[in-house]
Amino acid sequence: MAKIEFLNLGKQPITNNFLNNPKPKKEFFYNLKVTFDEKSKIVSLSNFVQPEKMFNETYAHRASMSKTMLLSNYKLSNYIKKRFAPRSILEIGSNDGIFLKNFNNILSIGVEPCKNLALITDEMGIKTYSNFWDINLAKKIVNKYNAFEFIYSANTISHIHNLKETISAVEMSLSDNGIFVIEDPSLLEVLKKISYDQFYDEHAYVFSILGIFNLLSETELEIFDIQKTSTHGGSQRIYIKKKKNKINISQKVNNAIKSELDFGMSKYETYKKFAKKVESSKKKLINIFENLKKNKKKIIGYGATYKSATVLNYCGINTKYIDYFVDTTETKQGKYTPGTHIPIIKPSEALDSSVDYAFLGAWNFKKEIFSKEKKFIKRGGKFITHVPTPRII
Ligand code: TMP
Repeated sequence: MAKIEFLNLGKQPITNNFLNNPKPKKEFFYNLKVTFDEKSKIVSLSNFVQPEKMFNETYAHRASMSKTMLLSNYKLSNYIKKRFAPRSILEIGSNDGIFLKNFNNILSIGVEPCKNLALITDEMGIKTYSNFWDINLAKKIVNKYNAFEFIYSANTISHIHNLKETISAVEMSLSDNGIFVIEDPSLLEVLKKISYDQFYDEHAYVFSILGIFNLLSETELEIFDIQKTSTHGGSQRIYIKKKKNKINISQKVNNAIKSELDFGMSKYETYKKFAKKVESSKKKLINIFENLKKNKKKIIGYGATYKSATVLNYCGINTKYIDYFVDTTETKQGKYTPGTHIPIIKPSEALDSSVDYAFLGAWNFKKEIFSKEKKFIKRGGKFITHVPTPRII
């Protein structure tokens, strides 16, 4: 029983490292490989990237930049108020306050290592600790505020390298009747959609329910409910409680584990097959770009996401194929994509009549983008996507 590597996505940059210069003198690259642990069934990067290189005061991802995410967080907060009525909330990875700002009258504490983001929520009046989540920070927060009735963490637990310590710190910070909810991309969805771009420096882990179940089996915590969400291309919200808290365990937990076992997610061969499909996806995508360029088509990128860095660098798609990326995030505009050095511009300048194709970096927001870009579609503009299989739409 051991950890076995199944996927090699080659040399990759720090996805958050949007460059000021198209020809940087020095750029950090690492080898992105992915591993399956036969014992715990947990899938992780083979080599973790130093957290300070990724999560710092230049962190560009602002969750509130997407209407889809704003609405999803608003709906979730209403649901949480109704179902659990918590009197205190701790969020691990509070980003720009997209979730916590919905809980005005409840003690809400944020933890956010990126100082630029922590400043935003602090200014909103939400006390935010600009630190990495660990046992020492948990002790400090619990000493001051007592254990919390609700702990939430979206797209963050999968970023923290020491899983065991992370969970122990949560155990310590959760009241006996408290609820802990984590939301992260679903490994089953990644395997089904061949969305290998969920693997990048920040995603130290891409979780299966099976993996989380095994991880918690050695703790006083257990899963009691699961919801699928469409955010980030297919995520799962996992509801966790202390074993001594006698809330019913939903049938959905067993069903989800069964679906994963039926898909073969406890076996290495399934991951090896996935890796073969990733190689074929790369070939098909390069073919599409090559053919369009042969026909002198102008291609741009839509949404310079962290995910797209994996695809562009793995497939070698650079300024030879893509003239520029358009992105609504102001801190990305005027900069260049990491590793591939494609300029990023703002939407007002983007989809003029010279553009024939737009590569969907933000494929997970396809619906929102298509409804926004009706004019482009109407005049014959087309999108390119690699999910679930490379094609023009
Ligand atoms: P994310 O997938 O990491 O949330 O990043 C989405 C990025 O895509 C973010 O930088 C904003 C950008 N974006 C656009 O440029 N236009 C859009 O219509 C949407 C929905 C996102």
